[in-house]
Amino acid sequence: MINASGTFDAIAARRVYGDALLADFPFSAFVSKTITPEPRAGNEPQRIWETPAGMINSIGLPNKGLEGFLVGDLPQLAELPVPLIVSVMATDREEFARLVTGVGERDEVAGIELNVSCPNVHSGLIVGEQPSETEALLEHLRPLTEKPLIVKLTPNVANPAEVAVAAERGGADAVSLINTLKASAIDPATGEPGIAAGHGGLSGPAVRPVAVAQLRAVAAAIQIRVIGMGGVSSGADAMEMIAAGATLVAVGTESFRDPRAGERIARELP
Ligand SMILES: Cc1cc2nc3c(=O)[nH]c(=O)nc-3n(C[C@H](O)[C@H](O)[C@H](O)COP(=O)(O)O)c2cc1C
Repeated sequence: MINASGTFDAIAARRVYGDALLADFPFSAFVSKTITPEPRAGNEPQRIWETPAGMINSIGLPNKGLEGFLVGDLPQLAELPVPLIVSVMATDREEFARLVTGVGERDEVAGIELNVSCPNVHSGLIVGEQPSETEALLEHLRPLTEKPLIVKLTPNVANPAEVAVAAERGGADAVSLINTLKASAIDPATGEPGIAAGHGGLSGPAVRPVAVAQLRAVAAAIQIRVIGMGGVSSGADAMEMIAAGATLVAVGTESFRDPRAGERIARELP
């Protein structure tokens, strides 16, 4: 069991729980929140909205940028007792390359997850929605690091297996899925969208059947490994991901309710 990117702030958790967090860390590896080349403030509130069996978020990737991450966060994340995977996102290949090189040359980093749910500034297309863009990005990045490259797939496509095949062809070591499903909600008190950005991404138990269907399709189409996530909140849910083709399972939204969910789910698995 690992954490899904952006759903567990290990640095904040260390401030709250102290070294007890390290002695009894809830995950077998830690995935950072997605970082971008330059710092980002994230979106205006309201950034989250509770829905039946889930939540919509549009956080907008607030982060310190590559330099801020390397100087400010990496030394603290390196103290975690588990391997560190750093999630990165950029809007063109050169900037993605800068992130992969900057993060990949650090011994503290065990692997890199490529968050491809963003538009390419040149084409305007969302990289992870286009098999050809995904393959081209991987071909560009693959020679830059020996570290494992994980492609985080978006569920907002008709055929996620096509994108997974493209990632594999480009040289990815693994894919992870699912990211959040495009979603919106209207605040009944105002008649306006409940999320300030107008829409966001749905996560939590509500999305699990979608994740299971996409995992089955993706796992059947590729040879590389698959990390499964989307609404996992119990050992039985994790088992469902494994049966659908995952070799590693991540927990996201459930950690907001139970910060020890990763450890609990692993314990429930047998
Ligand atoms: C508040 C929040 C922030 C997230 N931030 C990121 C992120 O920075 N990068 C990323 O790749 N996915 C991000 N995600 C998506 C999760 O990693 C995961 O793919 C998704 O939530 C499905 O898993 P879950 O249902 O267990 O939460 C975020 C999800 C939530 C709820």
